[in-house]
Amino acid sequence: MKLWAGRTGGDVDERLSAINNSIGFDSRMYKQDITGSIAHAKMLGKIGVITEDEKNQIVEGLNGILADIERGALEIDMTCEDIHTFVEATLTERIGTAGKKLHTARSRNDQVALDIRMYLADQIEHVIALAKDLTAAFCEVAEQHLETVMPGYTHLQRAQPVTLAHYLMAYAQMLLRDIERLGDCKRRTLVLPLGSGALAGTTYPLDREYVAEQLGFNGISLNSLDGVSDRDFALELLSDLSIMMMHLSRFSEEICLWCSWEFKFVTLADNFSTGSSIMPQKKNPDITELVRGKTGRVFGDLTTLLTAMKALPLAYNKDMQEDKEALFDAIDTADLSLSVLAPMLRTANFHPANMKKAAAGGFINATDCADYMVRKGVPFRDAYRVTGQRVKYCIDRGLTLDELPLTDYREFSLVFDEDVYDAIDLLTCVSQRSLPGGPAPSAVKATIDATRAKIAEA
Ligand code: ARG
Repeated sequence: MKLWAGRTGGDVDERLSAINNSIGFDSRMYKQDITGSIAHAKMLGKIGVITEDEKNQIVEGLNGILADIERGALEIDMTCEDIHTFVEATLTERIGTAGKKLHTARSRNDQVALDIRMYLADQIEHVIALAKDLTAAFCEVAEQHLETVMPGYTHLQRAQPVTLAHYLMAYAQMLLRDIERLGDCKRRTLVLPLGSGALAGTTYPLDREYVAEQLGFNGISLNSLDGVSDRDFALELLSDLSIMMMHLSRFSEEICLWCSWEFKFVTLADNFSTGSSIMPQKKNPDITELVRGKTGRVFGDLTTLLTAMKALPLAYNKDMQEDKEALFDAIDTADLSLSVLAPMLRTANFHPANMKKAAAGGFINATDCADYMVRKGVPFRDAYRVTGQRVKYCIDRGLTLDELPLTDYREFSLVFDEDVYDAIDLLTCVSQRSLPGGPAPSAVKATIDATRAKIAEA
């Protein structure tokens, strides 16, 4: 029998239940549903719509249900329509008539909007904590590799020298922005929809501010139609998680490449690697491949909800029940990805010698060689051309710029002296880029310090 039996008989075809019931996924909001109901009941008591005694019975009953679910003494009945129905029915079963008063001046439409907001706010905090930990891992590993020179790339072609520390701290900056975005999203999520009723508010003199205060919300919604049908906060979270997963996916792609024999910049710890069932030599970076792959799911979750919402007339429509599986999947995926990348990164073994070799092989100090000429008075455009010719000269002879004898340098230009070798030394090239935000060890150390300070205050 359904909660809403009355207008209809309430006995429904099992195929309707199969499509209509949401308890299979919304049961994970039991705590928020109960906490929200306690706040609502206290408010009903405060304004005199229910008696002090009824309020106490309800609050005690709900606390008992919460405690029993948490210690495994009460199993959530998966044949109920949704978690709201289950909690209310269980309450009435336990305390009788007072339980039937809980839903006064409330609809499941404003109730579910409240529950999701509460659930998401909790989850956002959790994701932020995990993102902070991964950012801290980037800082830790970067600190050990301030002078580990490696090629920086554009077009995936070796471009200019950077350091591993600089490279990793780029990802830390992305995560800092993700953390900031999630914090913003949380602020907008904590706006109270309760009091919107089914769509048109209610005739009872509710104290909405009191409910908001009890639940730690920042304010109340100002239009009942919008209050029950707004899912912007959910879309914002899915957008924020999509952007964050895009960052994790880019980093994962780097690790996949760097694990290849062609790069061999890193070897992942054995307990964070997998093997092949047939090829005995294989050690595979499955973690980063999966994070890269799972990113698509989160983008899909965002598309699912955008599409579900795009043609809905005001106010609540059952289509909106589709928000939950998309949200839960995106949160679970982000949670899993952040949780596994942090220890994988902390235990990875980077190979500075291989990075240095790759950095030495690609003429990535050519810009610095041209800059050397500029410092000696040659206009940059001329220095650029002459250096290009010298690179070609070296390629034809199988030499690097560091190996080219000074006599050969001087054939190109008489500005060259012995000090050119120091000027194009890769660590010199990196160290001279010491502007804030640059790859010089001193600049990267400052970025690490600033990043740690931001994590601490975020
Ligand atoms: N399970 C529903 C949801 O997730 C709860 C709201 C039901 N409201 C209704 N009018 N049937 O959206």
